[in-house]
Amino acid sequence: MNQVRVGLIGCGGRSNAHRQSFLKMDDVKVVAVADPIEERRLAAANQFGCTRIYHDYTELYNNESKDTLDAVVICIEPTAHDSSETRAVEMGIPFLVEKPVTMDLNQAREISKRVTETGLITSVGFQDRYLKLTDMVRDELKKHKQGGLVYGSWIGGIPGVWWWQKKSTCGGQLVEQNIHLADELRFLFGEPLSVYATCSRGIVQPGVNASSEYDTDDHSTAVIRFENNYTATLVSACYHRAGRAHCGLVITLEDMVIDYRLRNNLIIETPDYTYDVKREGLDHTFYLDEAFIHAVKTGDRSLIRSDYADALKTHELVFAANESMESGQVIYFK
Ligand SMILES: NC(=O)c1ccc[n+]([C@@H]2O[C@H](COP(=O)([O-])OP(=O)(O)OC[C@H]3O[C@@H](n4cnc5c(N)ncnc54)[C@H](O)[C@@H]3O)[C@@H](O)[C@H]2O)c1
Repeated sequence: MNQVRVGLIGCGGRSNAHRQSFLKMDDVKVVAVADPIEERRLAAANQFGCTRIYHDYTELYNNESKDTLDAVVICIEPTAHDSSETRAVEMGIPFLVEKPVTMDLNQAREISKRVTETGLITSVGFQDRYLKLTDMVRDELKKHKQGGLVYGSWIGGIPGVWWWQKKSTCGGQLVEQNIHLADELRFLFGEPLSVYATCSRGIVQPGVNASSEYDTDDHSTAVIRFENNYTATLVSACYHRAGRAHCGLVITLEDMVIDYRLRNNLIIETPDYTYDVKREGLDHTFYLDEAFIHAVKTGDRSLIRSDYADALKTHELVFAANESMESGQVIYFK
């Protein structure tokens, strides 16, 4: 396969990041696009001179096949995943799908089962795993036998998309954005043992500094235990409106502090030295896309760092945290 023929499902904000990657890749051609919003699907099609333009993914799947598409990239609202992945599985078309992959964990479990049974190539949008800074953190951790405390935070405002205003359509800040750091925790420390979480509302005023529909948590705190004495406190917030609050992970070991400033730099401090490494290279989404395209083109999926089955486990973690917020109970995984 010289050129990978890609279909884009959803042409909103996140799709644009993937489109920027594909514009840089000679071996990718976007040949089909779908989005109910005409302006968006036309803008995406125009970027690639693409003429197969569909209203939605159902229309795209009804008119395309494995013979006309090598892969689809799915960037739709978390509540819009009715058959966006199952159709791809049935048709044998590899897919890259954005997190959160659905709001319905049972649906994700079923899709994961079918993907595993069929051996389809998949990838999920956890691009932080592809950063060199992440590799550096992993390398440092391998040298340490004992764990320690981890503080992770994703603190910001309310993203502008309509579906972010309600917890039922976005899942809350932990499920929607801080899922990236929850995934990093799994990537760095393995599978969680338990999670306990709390949440709070009342800072953001619906109809005043958010839409009148706003009903999601202003902030939440999840305490996640891992093997090897690692305990992470993951805080998530969307009430903050001034400047840049802290986002990233601080890992405190016996003789080292690893301070990962989200997608920006990494500071490593020991009694003997301190160094600060800046992120280099292209946008992290490029590396995520490159690994997926390489797998589709060659069949070698070793560069994919998060396939659907693996990503499901991160979704299990953040949805368990939501469950704990509701019930006040600790959720145990083993
Ligand atoms: N990995 C990341 O860093 C990252 C960053 C931003 C967003 N995301 C995720 O990407 C997904 C999309 O987010 P977004 O910001 O692009 O949202 P968006 O609202 O800007 O875009 C979603 C698009 O999907 C379209 N859509 C809805 N139903 C469809 C259907 N049946 N067929 C085809 N298109 C359909 C909508 O019309 C809309 O244009 C979300 O799950 C979000 O969490 C991931």
